Amino acid sequence: MIQAESLKKAVVISFFLLSFKEGAAADLVRGHSIAVRWCSECHVVAPGQGHGSDAVPTFAEIKASDRLDEAQLTAFLSAPEHSRMPNLSLTRSEISDLVAYIRAQRKDGQNSGD
Ligand code: HEC
Repeated sequence: MIQAESLKKAVVISFFLLSFKEGAAADLVRGHSIAVRWCSECHVVAPGQGHGSDAVPTFAEIKASDRLDEAQLTAFLSAPEHSRMPNLSLTRSEISDLVAYIRAQRKDGQNSGD
């Protein structure tokens, strides 16, 4: 029954891909809502948000910064000491959702995470 076997494989693979995609989308949705709740007081976290603080980089600017890759963002959010930013005591999963959200910002300020 070679055919049944490969059919089974195809089904398993497509389920895997489906759940992967949904997982990534869920991160973005959670990242967005955490950002709105905890970060938008100071940062512009999405296009169309009227105003954050002028002295604070927007999430689109943070994404565009070459200095802050995924590892750097994670490290910063785990312990934002020596910075003007408060330590918000985020959990690991909140941090990874936020990093996913920030990384999904586009250069032109449009946001693929909505
Ligand atoms: C009370 C205001 C405030 C809040 C709330 C806040 N930030 Fe910040 N954030 C700042 C300031 C001010 C800076 C600039 C830090 C500096 O230049 O020392 C900053 C910088 C950053 C940077 C860039 C760090 C760097 O090295 O350039 C990241 C990333 C960041 N914030 C993420 C977040 C996230 C994610 C949240 C929500 C969980 C958040 N911030 C909430 C004020 C805030």
